[in-house]
Amino acid sequence: MKWTASKLKALKGDKKISMVTAYDALTAALVDDAGIPAILVGDSLGMTVLGYETTLPVSMDEMVHHTAAVARGTRNALIIADMPFMSYQPSKAMALENAGRFLKEAHADAVKIEGGAIRAELIESLVKNGIPVLGHIGLTPQSIKEMGGYKVQGKTSEQARELMDDAMAIEQAGAFALVLECVPAPLGEMISKALTIPTIGIGAGGGCDGQVLVFTDLLGISGKPVPKFVKHYAHLHAQIVEALNTYKSEVESGAFPADEHTY
Ligand code: KIV
Repeated sequence: MKWTASKLKALKGDKKISMVTAYDALTAALVDDAGIPAILVGDSLGMTVLGYETTLPVSMDEMVHHTAAVARGTRNALIIADMPFMSYQPSKAMALENAGRFLKEAHADAVKIEGGAIRAELIESLVKNGIPVLGHIGLTPQSIKEMGGYKVQGKTSEQARELMDDAMAIEQAGAFALVLECVPAPLGEMISKALTIPTIGIGAGGGCDGQVLVFTDLLGISGKPVPKFVKHYAHLHAQIVEALNTYKSEVESGAFPADEHTY
């Protein structure tokens, strides 16, 4: 069954939602084969795959290229493309054009936009133009320079109230779901209970309606330190490096290729 934004939204209160990032046809096919209903082509692409220090340098062309590859590797999952830094902030017209590229050129099903009430008008306009939107509040990595680091958000009661207002504004604007990143678990639960759309948490506790993790974090591929909210479901970095080492040794010793690998 091909997932749509409205089918995902309808899971609220019925079943917890799993979402994972993917960046190409290979990683998308793995996520899709696992039966995970939603793939986020995150701008985390920049750090996980393209070698940038932050998500800020990621361009629309890079995101479209990778989202199209994800679409080629996906049969069933909902494909959500992350709108990169400065692809939607300058003007509504620019945002509509860029969001449209994701659906027309890259075959995404929806887009994700970072920011709270300040983005409500834009989200409403995208939705009215037929583009489903996933909101994203709390720690928003595109604002890392302004936030001063990757820190838990909403720790004071004033900040928590502001995040609740942001969440309500995004729901009212017509988003089909909302990512809550790095907020205290009680706040994650409070926002989830207050909304009729599902919340997808990342470092926001078990009270959210779903969870999202970055593909390379979940599988332990990078070998680099990860945030506290990450659980490694595999430790592939060590396994891959060991396999490559063994290959190198066998090439050097002549053990590979053996007779069975030879015509
Ligand atoms: O870019 C990304 O992967 C994200 C998720 C971490 C939510 O925004």
